[in-house]
Order: sequence, then structure tokens, then C-alpha cells
Amino acid sequence: MENDRPEPLILTIFGASGDLARRKLIPAIFDLYKRNFLPDRFVVLGVSRSKLSDDDFRQKVFLNSEFISLAEEDANLVEEFTQRLFYQPIDTNSIDDYSLVKDRLEQLEKEFNTGGNTIFYLSTPPLLYEKIPKFLAQHGLNKKEDCYRRLVIEKPFGYDLESAKQLNASLKEYFDEESLYRIDHYLGKETVQNLLVTRFANGVFEPLWNRNYIHHVEITNAENIGVGSRGGYYDQSGALRDMLQNHLMQVVAHVAMEPPIAPDANSIRKEKTKLFESLRPIANGDILKNAIRGQYTRSQVNGQIVQGYREEEGVPHDSKTETYAAVKFFIDNWRWSGVPFYARTGKRLPTKVTEVTITFKKPPHTLFRRQSEMFENDFNQMVIRIQPDEGLMLNFGMKIPGEGFRVKNVGMDFHYSDLSENDVPEAYERLLLDCMRGDATLYAHGDSVEYSWEFVEPILDAWKNDPTIPVYGYPAGTWGPDVADNLIEEDELSWRNPCRRLTDDTSYCEL
Ligand code: BG6
Repeated sequence: MENDRPEPLILTIFGASGDLARRKLIPAIFDLYKRNFLPDRFVVLGVSRSKLSDDDFRQKVFLNSEFISLAEEDANLVEEFTQRLFYQPIDTNSIDDYSLVKDRLEQLEKEFNTGGNTIFYLSTPPLLYEKIPKFLAQHGLNKKEDCYRRLVIEKPFGYDLESAKQLNASLKEYFDEESLYRIDHYLGKETVQNLLVTRFANGVFEPLWNRNYIHHVEITNAENIGVGSRGGYYDQSGALRDMLQNHLMQVVAHVAMEPPIAPDANSIRKEKTKLFESLRPIANGDILKNAIRGQYTRSQVNGQIVQGYREEEGVPHDSKTETYAAVKFFIDNWRWSGVPFYARTGKRLPTKVTEVTITFKKPPHTLFRRQSEMFENDFNQMVIRIQPDEGLMLNFGMKIPGEGFRVKNVGMDFHYSDLSENDVPEAYERLLLDCMRGDATLYAHGDSVEYSWEFVEPILDAWKNDPTIPVYGYPAGTWGPDVADNLIEEDELSWRNPCRRLTDDTSYCEL
């Protein structure tokens, strides 16, 4: 990250006593502070329902292990940092309470001479996403002369197309699009951004990046954890809403968008919006075949019994919510016409990994057929590993030394960890800093969010309304339901196995 420090500001976090703030936001802000990325005149105001004093809030921050691990090194720095943390309890549902926020902001503004710049970060239940901006506006906090007021909104952005549209419309009553920052933490991942650099900074790949040379594209997102204590939230959401509509679709956009005219927010977001607009919704009659849903069931993983989804805390015993989703779809534009995209995401799979595999078409004529059965069946592939072991691998056939033309498939790989200046910042750090600098490049635009909902809506509707579409069970620790394999095998292909040795090690995956 470049170190041009943002202007003075107050970062106001709604939902500050919650999990996300403690686990991700405050540690990210501290790390930015430690690395000298924040301005001297900078404070955090936590706002939430819990009745805490400033000191209680600071203690709460300390009691979080992620923060402690970052902070251990330097007690003075921690002390300095915590003196910049403040807290205001309010009932977020009560409009009158927002005068407390207003008073507190004015007081902090004066004390720290922050000049009025304020970011409001909504790390609250989505039910409050319309209310908080409205109440802020009613107290005149959404705009101020000669400074900025920005609003950051966590996912989920809407529950379906209609609610996303309504939320967009409601937010735009109080904040203009330039002041709205819809966060998708996948966009903060270095490797997701690197997709653009890989494509557009290299003369070698982009000429091949189209329907003439690419056979198909796979996106796999796997988690080995279950829903844990988030069953209540997750059961209302499911894999399609929780991961595919937002994170995976953002990855698709980076893989498939046209080159932007410049690497700035407007140009990149314009191209991404066009791409989202070109997604072909899966036709109703094809959903059974091309959109598979699954749910993990009780199983033994590495000698341990792992409970099924329906046994998780907060999940109804007859839940039909999917913990796994796989879809096959097309992008209706010049570049991608006819190229199938396969995307899958799931919890309680064998490992944690996210990767994109670009499979190139085979050579037009198979010269070495007789010498190598194996090569004949293999395509050239580019694997972009988003996490863990961030990197890129290119797979191609090479001659085995010796007589004849025996061909072996080899991989050429690059690992981020091999870079000497190995500084892969946490997604939240990058995103927070960008918002402070007023750079929305890595935030989702309102239109693209709506197009993405438009794409998943027919699947959600069919899954909700058509009882003949099954929720397939899969044992925890496996790669999802078998029918999801059929989805790709029907096209005489198979999912790339992201692990070399699946059964030996479920928590780490090598390229
Ligand atoms: C969140 C989802 O947005 O992303 C979680 O709500 C999921 O269910 C998480 O576990 C995955 O993020 P990452 O960065 O660990 O891949």
C-alpha cells in the first residue's frame, strides 16, 4: 500500500461492540495505525446498543485475541491507539438518540481538530441499513460543507433484487453514489485485484482471454468450517446469498470484464457493471440441472464426528437452506459467447481454498496422441489461487527427455510468499484505507449489485417455490453432492481438484 496518509477524520462504527468490529475492523485500524498509514488527527467513535463507557469499550477491544496478537509487540503504541477510541451507547432504533451521536461527533471534532470528515461504518444487522442513514440525515449528519461524509455498508446488500433496489433507493436519498461504499471483502483481497494485473499488464494472456482460446472457467470457493455460531443468520441466507451473489460474482467480474480505460473507480466499476449486465440468468427449466444445492450432513472428518447442518445451533431441524451451491452459467457478450462458467461454493468441504481455473482449448490437432494418453486428455490450465498460498500456476505439456515424444503435464507456479517484499495486507485494511482516501474502486457499485441479484433471483425463486428441486445431502468433509459433479461431467469435464492430497491434510492445500 502506498503511504499517502488520508485527511484527518472520525471513523464512526455502528455495531461497534459486535463481532466484526472486534475481530476485523479494530485490528485492521490498529495495524494501519501501527504502520503509520493513518493521519495524526484521527479517532474512532464506536456506537452501539451495549451500555459501555469509553474505557469499557477499550477493554473489549483488548480482550480480543486477534487484537492482542497484533498489539503484543508494542505496549506504548497500544496505549496511544486506545486513547483514540471512544464509545457512545444509543438505541439505534430511536431517532432522538442520534442527537447523542451528533453531540459526541462535534465534541471529538473540536478536541481532535478533525475538520468534519466522517465515515459512518454500518457493521450492524441489515435491518438497520435503511434506518441509520435516515436518522443520521434527520440530524443533518449526512452532509456538511467543506468536508466529506461517507457511508460504508457491510454485506448482505439486500435479501433479493427487490430489497436491494429499495435499499439503493433509500440510501441515495441521503448519500450520493460517490459517498456510498458497499463493502465486499473479496475485493480487498490482493489476489482478486491481481486478476486485473495478470490480465491487463501482460501481453501474453489477454490475446487468449476469450471464446476463441478459453474452453471453460471454473471458480471454486471451499471452506472446511461449518456455520458455527452463525446458524441463525446463515439459515436465512444460504450459500447463494452469502457467497455467490456477492464474493464469487465479484471474482467472475474480475475474470471476465473488458479492460477499463484507466485503473480508477469509475472506469473499473463501469466495466464491471457491463459485465454483470451481460450475465445470462439461468432459465427456469434449466435450474434443476444447472443450479445444484446441497447441505452437509453428519460425518466423520479426520477421525472426529462433525455434526450435520440441521444439528447446528440456531438451525431448524427441517431446514432446506443450502450450505453448498454449484451453478453453470453463460455470459452473453462478444468475448464470452458460448464459454461455460462453473462456480461452486460450500461449507464443510475438505479444505479452505478459493481459486479460479481458466481452461484453454486443446490444440486443433493432436500430434502426440499415441505417445501420451494422459496429455491427450489434459488441457492447458491457468490456476489463480486466491487463498490460501496466494499465487498462480500455469499447466502445460512438456517433452519427457529421451526417445520419442512422450509428453508430461508440468506446472509453472508463482507464489506470493516468494516475493521479497511480501506484504499482503488484510482485505479490511486495504478497504478501510481506500475509503478514507475516497477511492471506491474496490467497492461495489449500486447498479452492479442489482444486476448480480437479477442473475441469482430466478435460482432463489425456483429453490423456494419448486418442491421438486432437491436439497442434496453431502457428508461433511467431502466435495459436495455427486450431482454437482454431474453438472460439469455432462460436458465431459471435471472440477479441478484443488488439493493434491486431499485426505492427508484438510486444512492446507498446495498449488
Ligand atoms: C463472509 C461469509 O462474507 O465470507 C461467511 O458471510 C464466509 O460465511 C466468509 O465464511 C468467507 O470469507 P473468507 O475471506 O474467509 O473467504
